[in-house]
Amino acid sequence: DDPYMFPYKGCNFPKNATSPEYLDTLEDFEIRDSDVFLVTYPKSGTVWTQQILTLMFANDYSGDYQSNFERMPWIEIQVPDLDVVNRPSPRLFASHLPYYLAPRGLKEKKGKVIYVLRNPKDTMVSYFHFSRMMLKLETMNNIDDLLEKYLSGDMIYGSWFEHVKGWFTHKDQLNCLFLSYEEMVKDLHSAVVKISKFIGKDLDDATIDMIVEKSTFKNMKNDPKANYEFLPDDVTDKKQGHFLRKGKVGDWKNTLTVAQNERFNEVFQTKMENVPLEIIWE
Ligand code: PPS
Repeated sequence: DDPYMFPYKGCNFPKNATSPEYLDTLEDFEIRDSDVFLVTYPKSGTVWTQQILTLMFANDYSGDYQSNFERMPWIEIQVPDLDVVNRPSPRLFASHLPYYLAPRGLKEKKGKVIYVLRNPKDTMVSYFHFSRMMLKLETMNNIDDLLEKYLSGDMIYGSWFEHVKGWFTHKDQLNCLFLSYEEMVKDLHSAVVKISKFIGKDLDDATIDMIVEKSTFKNMKNDPKANYEFLPDDVTDKKQGHFLRKGKVGDWKNTLTVAQNERFNEVFQTKMENVPLEIIWE
């Protein structure tokens, strides 16, 4: 029995953070038109985009939220005392759910979805480091331990390939903005403007500049709330690392051996055949 995750309808979820009974309720989770969902495969830029979105909505909320996590909780995670349903609009959610488990309302174009995609080699490398600091995940000792699990989708939240394909191939049926981590790294300002337009926020230049400034890698790393430093010591080992690690495109080149990279490419080509998606690798 895996001590870290449990299978549910073809995907894997974190133990002690959610349950099959709760996940069963999500398909019918009632979506409001004003809801904003940030959807990602893990390690693709979730906390980054969460920072941008919570800053954009900062004036809409009078509550005293302590963290981006409370302001924009993961819908599939159950947190005691955090009522995800009965919160005032506009509600912000993060989610790692695969498309086929997402609330039906989103598929009826209620609410807005921002999907952030990151190239799967960097995502895997990021996860490798994350598994070493996140005590609720199995620690990966080397890339070889991780590679075949990653390629076959024996991972928390399942397969990168299935996640990306599921959301990408249905994006036109959703109210959806598809963004990539790599374009955010290349031009954060443009990405912030794109997001603000998509969610229908008319923000002046000074506000856009403020949001960009507070969302740079350096400033988020120095901001304990944005860097998730508030997580308790039985959840993260802060001596091993932080949510904000390197923030670069192409770090896989420093990490994968030639053989590991070839194996990755082989599986990538098979799984992504006929998916017209451009991946930025470096
Ligand atoms: S999680 O656990 O799924 O929520 O992780 P997630 O937030 O999706 O991914 C973490 C990676 O995103 C990087 N990150 C950033 N990169 C550039 N700029 C900013 N502001 C930023 N914020 C977070 C973070 O460093 C992780 O990537 P790696 O490659 O490990 O550095």
